[in-house]
Amino acid sequence: MAVLANGAGTGWAPRSWRPLLERARKRSMRHVTLHAQTHAAGFYRRFGFNERGEEFLEAEIPHVEMTLELFPARE
Ligand SMILES: CC(C)(COP(=O)(O)OP(=O)(O)OC[C@H]1O[C@@H](n2cnc3c(N)ncnc32)[C@H](O)[C@@H]1OP(=O)(O)O)[C@@H](O)C(=O)NCCC(=O)NCCS
Repeated sequence: MAVLANGAGTGWAPRSWRPLLERARKRSMRHVTLHAQTHAAGFYRRFGFNERGEEFLEAEIPHVEMTLELFPARE
């Protein structure tokens, strides 16, 4: 995900994420996984994503896998 410089900081990114995650829930997807550039992990954490595993290079940029559980298993 990338926001053009003139749209950065306008809330476009979080506004885009929420309907995508809502659609995933409606389709009963159990989780969503992404590869985040490490410096942006904090952005995804805000939506409930958690890091999984070690940092790795993708296109020579440090990344980390992050997963959001949409329907956590019941205790
Ligand atoms: C990451 C990116 C998509 C976020 O979009 P944005 O328009 O800057 O997001 P916003 O400024 O609307 O931020 C929304 C909220 O997330 C927070 N946030 C933004 N980037 C963050 C980061 N890297 N870590 C933690 N929080 C972050 C903001 O502080 C803001 O919080 P607030 O609602 O309390 O004010 C944008 O910065 C971008 O395009 N970066 C360059 C490309 C990139 O690195 N993409 C990630 C690839 S995985």
